[in-house]
Amino acid sequence: MSIPQKKLSIGLFGFGVVGTGLYKVLQQTPSLNAEIKKVCIKHPEKKREAPETLFTVDPDILLNDESINVIVELIDDADAAYYIVSKALTSGKAVVSANKKMIAEHLPELLAIQKEYGTPFLYESACCASIPVIRNLEEYYDNDLLQGVSGIVNGSTNYILTRVAQDKLTFEEALLQAQIEGFAESNPALDVEGIDAVNKLSILLTHAYGIVAHPQEIVHSGIQNLQAHDAVFAKEKGFEIKLVAQAKKLEDGNVAAFVLPQFVDSTNQLYNVRNEYNGVVIESGLADKQFFYGKGAGSFPTASAVLSDLSALRYDYKYEYKKLHNKTAGNLTNDFFLRVYVSFEGLFQVPHERFERIEEWSSSEKKCHVIGVIKFSKLRDSQWWKKKGISVIVWPDAFVTDVVVKEPVEDFLAVV
Ligand code: HSE
Repeated sequence: MSIPQKKLSIGLFGFGVVGTGLYKVLQQTPSLNAEIKKVCIKHPEKKREAPETLFTVDPDILLNDESINVIVELIDDADAAYYIVSKALTSGKAVVSANKKMIAEHLPELLAIQKEYGTPFLYESACCASIPVIRNLEEYYDNDLLQGVSGIVNGSTNYILTRVAQDKLTFEEALLQAQIEGFAESNPALDVEGIDAVNKLSILLTHAYGIVAHPQEIVHSGIQNLQAHDAVFAKEKGFEIKLVAQAKKLEDGNVAAFVLPQFVDSTNQLYNVRNEYNGVVIESGLADKQFFYGKGAGSFPTASAVLSDLSALRYDYKYEYKKLHNKTAGNLTNDFFLRVYVSFEGLFQVPHERFERIEEWSSSEKKCHVIGVIKFSKLRDSQWWKKKGISVIVWPDAFVTDVVVKEPVEDFLAVV
């Protein structure tokens, strides 16, 4: 017996890197029974490789067209995207979106709309592009067994780190190349400062643990403050520096989550994730570690996830948000201890009283580093580590549980 499949008539918002990729891919997949009926764009003057009659600048032409049953939203303006997506969902149209910023910033409202109207809203391409991580977290991993999720979830920063370390490009050259390749956001500060990664982590937390946290609630930093001497240190130790989004279930049942640069050693599956590739390690109680790997940015890798969502819509698939409704994972917490490396130019810039324990330090005239244990809530509540000239990098196996006393700081001061 064959399962009836819906014909999808698509209203597409955005014809940039991903939109054009989707347009091309759909032409090669007639079996999907999906057709782009109209495309809404912002700049009609741009030359495009598609018939002119396909395009409009009026969003309402798509949103009010009753024959369009799916809106695919691929624009980079998060506010406009929220207007489009909420209007489409409330008028009974299914929506596929790649807009991680919009989703992460409006999760509570989007959840409420889905609950009230029951219209499907899928966004696999919003996290790690071609890697099917959202649907796996949603469907496959039981909440109680999920010990942790850690991943390289931003292609551009990983590309920059790789090209700087391997090919000796400057930071600026590597960023420019990431922009040319279509990996970076239109505002690349979102990539570089870890904002894109924390938006993705916020979405992953919902599907992994049923936690709805605004990205601003989650401690994050990007690669903007990394220094050349951090790379030298990493090389000496046999580490790679990666920007990692991490969520870990703690012994008390609550969940630690952050986006920070990390030293990754060669036993970690993320060690070999290079260029625009993303990688996600999911740790579960029974299966131990599982590793998902694939391209995390770019036209066709992102279009492939959009295509997969479209395909799922033909069977009326929607996220059930099971873990939100059956929540046993606890809450987001900042109450834990983390081992970090902090480097800074000159002496005494890092307030040593921020450390619960200092385990190693080194200083010279121009730079200094400290490896020590911090109380994470103190990091969250302070700004010192965000200053230019200071970098904070999470140490491998960073979670520390044996912190009992705060050592006197005088010893440290005496040495430096
Ligand atoms: N700018 C994003 C990245 C695009 O580099 O990962 C894919 O979400």
